[in-house]
Amino acid sequence: MKKKYVSQSTRGRCEKDALRWQRQFIRRRDLHRKIKNAAGDILQSDNFRSTKKHVQHGDMTVNAHCLNVATYSLMLRDKLHIRCSEEELIRGALLHDYFLYDWHSKEHVSIKNLHGFYHPGIALKNASEEYELTPREKDIIKKHMWPLTVVPPACREAWIVTVADKWCSLMETFRIHKGHGAKRDDRENQAVS
Ligand SMILES: [Fe+2]
Ligand SMILES: [Fe+2]
Repeated sequence: MKKKYVSQSTRGRCEKDALRWQRQFIRRRDLHRKIKNAAGDILQSDNFRSTKKHVQHGDMTVNAHCLNVATYSLMLRDKLHIRCSEEELIRGALLHDYFLYDWHSKEHVSIKNLHGFYHPGIALKNASEEYELTPREKDIIKKHMWPLTVVPPACREAWIVTVADKWCSLMETFRIHKGHGAKRDDRENQAVS
């Protein structure tokens, strides 16, 4: 049988790609460990788990969105070498959309258009009832929709989550970040039928 010739440069490129994927995998795994260590109680809670039922953007659930925002917040902090409280950054990011309802559902249609304005307050109220929040965690949740919610963030952690949230929302809306939740169109069709 004839042996297939693979050039030196192709082999080198494949090895480089494999190394890059390996580095990314290890990086992601380390970030997820950090999130688990800082907020195991939140991740295990029934209410946080219930956010898997609700879609945020595209086919991304609120649960996956919040985990993404926590991951990207850590990545942004590391990239820009910003000194801040890692634990508060993670916990605030996980709870920033803790409004606990499906904002696309028919029963919430009256507040749907105003969801952007009101949900930080609702998330803060829900989170405060379950967790002892620090002032920084409160600031993250309350201000993450800035500039929609006029008052700007007052700490580095809140600025980081605000930027990470916008980035993740954009990626989800354009389906660049793909989730595993029910697609909004399918859910609307189910509701109608
Ligand atoms: Fe939000
Ligand atoms: Fe968000």
